[in-house]
Amino acid sequence: MQRPSPHPSWSRLARPASGCLLVVAAALVQAATPAQIAAGYAASAGAPADPERGRRFFTTTQGHEWRCASCHGELPTQAGRHAATGKPIAPLAPAFDAQRFTDAAKVEKWFHRNCNDVVGRPCTAAEKADVTAWLLTLRP
Ligand code: HEC
Repeated sequence: MQRPSPHPSWSRLARPASGCLLVVAAALVQAATPAQIAAGYAASAGAPADPERGRRFFTTTQGHEWRCASCHGELPTQAGRHAATGKPIAPLAPAFDAQRFTDAAKVEKWFHRNCNDVVGRPCTAAEKADVTAWLLTLRP
């Protein structure tokens, strides 16, 4: 004979609820807003971001020959051009390209690669927070 479940109403509720949680968690891993990514870097840095410091970092040399602006342009509201290959690069400022800063893993991958080219080391969380905060100030 089958024993009645001790919490029949719970088990009925539990399934759809955990299904929803999974969907939400998967969405968080894959997609984000630029503001969320910026907030994440500021939280890791443990200090508020400084957009003006981000602008200076982006537009001046940081030890190596290339600057961020060498490929992304002085004001990344427009397409840039790769300093070595000449290939066009879509605007980096999120207000000018809706794909920008919506995929945390992509953002991390390119920060890592580009900071190594420009600074010769990975950028700190504070540097990433500053640059992202500056890019968010650029609006049409
Ligand atoms: C040698 C050329 C080059 C330099 C220098 C460069 N970048 Fe990039 N960057 C690229 C390319 C190429 C991509 C990937 C193609 C694309 O997304 O358009 C990219 C993508 C990115 C992305 C990904 C954003 C997203 O969500 O799509 C970020 C962030 C970024 N760069 C930041 C920087 C910063 C900060 C610096 C300076 C430390 C810098 N880049 C210097 C070429 C460069």
